[in-house]
Amino acid sequence: MKLFVTGGAGFIGSNFVLYWLRQHPNDQIINFDKLTYAGNLANLTEVEHHDNYHFVKGDICSVSDVEKAMEGADIVVHFAAESHVDRSIMNPSDFVETNVAGTQVLLDVALKYRVKRFHHVSTDEVFGALSLDNSTKFNEATSYNPHSPYSASKAGSDHLVRAYADTYELPITITNCSNNFGPYQFPEKLIPLAITNLIEDKKVPVYGDGLYVRDWLYVEDHCRAIERVLQDGKIGETYCVGGLRPEHGDINNLDVAKKILSLLGKDESYLEYVKDRPGHDRRYAIDWSKIKNELGWEPQYDFDEWLTKTVEWYKSHEGWWRAIKNGSYKDYYDKQYSQR
Ligand code: NAD
Ligand code: DAU
Repeated sequence: MKLFVTGGAGFIGSNFVLYWLRQHPNDQIINFDKLTYAGNLANLTEVEHHDNYHFVKGDICSVSDVEKAMEGADIVVHFAAESHVDRSIMNPSDFVETNVAGTQVLLDVALKYRVKRFHHVSTDEVFGALSLDNSTKFNEATSYNPHSPYSASKAGSDHLVRAYADTYELPITITNCSNNFGPYQFPEKLIPLAITNLIEDKKVPVYGDGLYVRDWLYVEDHCRAIERVLQDGKIGETYCVGGLRPEHGDINNLDVAKKILSLLGKDESYLEYVKDRPGHDRRYAIDWSKIKNELGWEPQYDFDEWLTKTVEWYKSHEGWWRAIKNGSYKDYYDKQYSQR
C-alpha cells in the first residue's frame, strides 16, 4: 500500500507518519509538505532512513508539484493546512489559499489518478460553538457554523471534499476531530505554549475569562482513529473523533493551565489574563459514538495521565522547541501578545 500524506512534517502529520510506519512497516509513505513555519523535519528523524519513507518538498496549491508526487499512490491522507486560529485572524488569505484552493488541487489530482481513498482530516471547529449552559455535543449531523477564518476555510475544504464525492464519485472519508495534544506540537497552541513558557519562567497568557472549553484528544488516539477509518470506514462517511469520555465532564482553559502550573511547580501568579480572541468559540465537545459503534474506536489515553507525559516530553526535548522559539516564532509571539 502506498500512502500520500500531505502535511506530514507538521504536528499531527508527523505523529501519523511515525505511527503508521511502526504499525505497517511494509507500506510506503510519501510525505508531501511545503515546510512552512509549522513543518519540521526534525519530527521525523526516527524514520528518515526508513526504506519505505520518502519526503517530497512541495506545495498542495501547485498542480505540477502534486501531480509529480502523487502518481502511484493508493491512498491520500490530507493533513496539510494552515492550522492556527490566531494566525488566521491576522492573515486570512493564506488560510483560504492553502485550506480551500490547495484541497481542491489535491482532489483534482486524486481524481485523475483514481486513488482508492481520499481521507480528509478536518476539525470540530467547523460546527461553531456550544453553550456552557448545557451538555450538548457535536456529532456528524451538526450543522456547519464556523466563526474564524481558519474554521471557515476548513468548512470550505470539507464541502469541496463532499462535492467531489457526490459529483465525481471520488471515494472519500472525513474525520472531524477535537483539539490534539502531545509530542511535536508547535508552541503556538495553548498546551505547548503554556508548558514551554513556564519552563522558561514566563507567564501563560489566558484569553478572556479562561472559561472556554475544548475537548482534548491525545495525538496517538487521533492517529488510531484515522487508521480505523482507512481500514474499515465507509466510503462517503464522516466520523467525529474526540478525546474525552462522558465521565470527564468539561475541562476549561483555566483547568488546563492550572494542571500544567502544578506539574511544573508554579503558582497562579504565572497566569496572565489577556485580551480575548475575537469570535472566540465558547465550548467544544464531541460525541464520538458513531466511530465507536461502527469501527470499535475509542480514546485509550486519559487526559491527566497524558498531559503529565506531554509535560515530560517537552522537558526532555528542550532542544526541539528552543530551536523553534529562537527563530521567527519570536516575531509572531511579539505581534500576537504585545497588544493584549
Ligand atoms: P500544523 O500546523 O502543525 O502542520 C501543518 C503542516 O502542513 C505543516 O507541516 C506545514 O508545513 C504543512 N503545510 C502547510 N501549508 C502547506 C502547503 N501549501 N502545501 C504543503 N504542505 C503545507 O497542523 P496540525 O496541528 O498538525 O494539523 C494537521 C491537520 O489537522 C490540519 O488540517 C488541521 O486543520 C487538522 N486539525 C488539527 C487539530 C489540532 O488540534 N492540531 C485538530 C483538528 C483538526
Ligand atoms: O478544535 C480543533 C482545533 O483545535 C484545530 O482545528 C486547530 O487547528 C487547533 O489549533 C485548535 O484550535 P484552538 O483555537 O481551540 O486551539 P488553541 O491551542 O489555539 O487554543 C485553545 C484554547 O486556549 C482556546 O480557547 C484559546 C485559548 N488560548 C490559546 C492560546 C494560544 C489561550 O487562552 N491563550 C493562548 O495563548
